[in-house]
Amino acid sequence: MAVIPVDLAGRSYEVRVGQSLLANLADECGPLLRKRRVPIVTDENVAQHWRAAVDAALLSAGKEPQWLVLPPGEATKSWDGLARTVEWLLEQEVERKDHVIALGGGVIGDLVGFASSMLKRGCGFIQLPTSLLAQVDSSVGGKTAINTPAGKNLVGAFHQPSLVLADLATLETLPRREIGAGYAEVIKYGILGDYPFFEWCEAHGAKVLAGDKDAQEIAVTQSVRAKARIVAEDERETTGARALLNLGHTFGHALEAETGFSDRLLHGEAVALGMVLAARFSARRDLISAEDAARIAIAIAAVGLPSELSSLGLNGNGQMLAAHMLHDKKMDAGTLPFVLLNAIGEAFLDDSVALGEVAQFLDEELQG
Ligand code: NAD
Ligand code: GLY
Repeated sequence: MAVIPVDLAGRSYEVRVGQSLLANLADECGPLLRKRRVPIVTDENVAQHWRAAVDAALLSAGKEPQWLVLPPGEATKSWDGLARTVEWLLEQEVERKDHVIALGGGVIGDLVGFASSMLKRGCGFIQLPTSLLAQVDSSVGGKTAINTPAGKNLVGAFHQPSLVLADLATLETLPRREIGAGYAEVIKYGILGDYPFFEWCEAHGAKVLAGDKDAQEIAVTQSVRAKARIVAEDERETTGARALLNLGHTFGHALEAETGFSDRLLHGEAVALGMVLAARFSARRDLISAEDAARIAIAIAAVGLPSELSSLGLNGNGQMLAAHMLHDKKMDAGTLPFVLLNAIGEAFLDDSVALGEVAQFLDEELQG
């Protein structure tokens, strides 16, 4: 098992990555589970595969698991989902010093984290991420949010978990397409700041997708280390370090918006194509070399993730895609900072990008 500390003044916690963490849940959580009754929120898909294991682990330790099982999917991260979760936690008489368990992917983690941030003005929570995306990204760092009709993740809070247990065994039941979506966030750490890890991804990405346990362990551990380092440096995204994690997200968000935030393009798939676009846009600005931008596209296409905008079958033009960026939550007094690349492993924030230039670039990309 790897234990990765997230060092934050007064709010430090551990991310543990390994096998059998759910089977030893009571021991892993120790005194964080201070009462007999343990509130756990999950979704139906995750419950189907992992509820029995969690029940067995807690019951054998003399605990009484209490479950809220929500519908799967992004729609659960909503005002309704939040109200349902908060009301249920109140019914369970959860107190400030108690810990609520979030068992699931990023949807459950973001929702339960946000509910915990407001329950009794903030109670504890533990992340048990079960998707690759949640293990390598969303469960670490304390960003929590719901979606509203105005857009994704527009209402939320920074609220750090007290513990994250990333049990690699849970990835065995995760659909392959979801593994791919999570892998986009893995290779992102290499592209934005760790060239040797990018090279590792080139060599081992297919194994991660194929379910190779050793490769998945390295992928998750390395990603969490990278994220923990960045979060410790810039918890609230104020100095620019954490903003680099948005590599590919501005282009990706526009693609998600254009495809209606639907199953047509999962978030991680949009980020994957978004990173290719960020790299090509950087090459167009004479930053990263065209060869290295192509190398990023090849590494992404090699695991079956989308790497060509022209293959997406969109009806819109570059201007329409760029217009979605106006609603990006990173918009700052009329400027939208872009994460661009000087090289593989060398990302930086550029707030000099005009959306007209982006629209023209996207028109070229749409034509292939
Ligand atoms: P998700 O939670 O919807 O999970 C994807 C699908 O996999 C769902 O159908 C889920 O039921 C299923 N699933 C999860 N674990 C499973 C398992 N072990 N076995 C079988 N099925 C399983 O989505 P996600 O990709 O995990 O996360 C996406 C969400 O994360 C988005 O809402 C995004 O905004 C958010 N996010 C947050 C952060 C952050 O820093 N807070 C970062 C990135 C993404
Ligand atoms: N997923 C981006 C962040 O946590 O900052």
